[in-house]
Amino acid sequence: MRVFICGFGTVGQGLCEVLADRAQFFLDRYGEPVIVTGAMDSRTFILAPQGIAPLDLVARKKGSGRVGDESYTDSTAVLEQAEYDILVEVSPTDVKTGGAGLVNITYALNHGKDVITVNKGPLALKFCELISLARKNKCKLRFEGSVAGAMPIINLCHENLKGERISSIRGIFNGTCNFILSKMDKGQPFEQALKEAQQMGYAETDPTNDIEGYDSACKVAILANSIFGRNVTFNDVKITGITGITDEAVAMAASRNMVIRLIGEISETRLEVGPRLVPKGHPLSISGTLNTALIQADLAGPITITGRGAGRIETASAILSDLIAIMDERRNRR
Ligand code: HSE
Repeated sequence: MRVFICGFGTVGQGLCEVLADRAQFFLDRYGEPVIVTGAMDSRTFILAPQGIAPLDLVARKKGSGRVGDESYTDSTAVLEQAEYDILVEVSPTDVKTGGAGLVNITYALNHGKDVITVNKGPLALKFCELISLARKNKCKLRFEGSVAGAMPIINLCHENLKGERISSIRGIFNGTCNFILSKMDKGQPFEQALKEAQQMGYAETDPTNDIEGYDSACKVAILANSIFGRNVTFNDVKITGITGITDEAVAMAASRNMVIRLIGEISETRLEVGPRLVPKGHPLSISGTLNTALIQADLAGPITITGRGAGRIETASAILSDLIAIMDERRNRR
């Protein structure tokens, strides 16, 4: 199986580490390796039709700051030359236009390639268009890692909870905000907590996307489309971020045995992100960088999931599960 990686930041490099670590797993399960036939970062690219060791790509990026030796201006010209079966699109999220991710995903699907992405911009803006394009070209478009990183939610709802009627999902979908709010619970000022979250590598390149609720809103739009079959974009989500949360509000909540958490809510009629008062001890009162979701299903009842919503290896683990799903399906078709 030949994979081309678009985006070679934290997640692209984490994926290479995971592919190297699971090389024997792929050989045992499919009798064939997963070969990385190229990669691009925001400026450079490398093509290796016979495959390049994933850890060599990581070493190149760490050594020189570039994954490739050649520069490009048009990513589709690179994809035109590349040889691959699956495109992994992990370039940075652009919630305004969909950015390079939208261009790359559209190009690959138009050329009959399966796509795995964790890029929230294209999915939060053009979900229905991309799913239709994938269907038209008989391709797979999988995106487990786009919502809550390693915490399984999309594939869980599509596969394990297939027969359920899911009436709502409420959750914490942004680790940066949850970290800040948990630190504020302990009396730390907002700005200091944000700085710490950035140092931990959790915050988006532009942390405004986290604290204003835009990152959570992307995830809410993706869940609404993929699980509730709605046809919405990021712009349909009613968003309030956490910048207006004062120390006094946090103290007032604490005096009532509550905490303030940034909650995303999705149902047939609801599409919201905003700070909510949550009783201490409730599943949505978790602290730190964790993500969590409360899925309300008609037969199973409430299901709570919690996990790491970001991180190099954690997000790569979600990509790995999508890769295995695609490879299983191809094997079963043979
Ligand atoms: N900035 C995001 C967060 C990363 O803090 O949860 C994962 O989407």
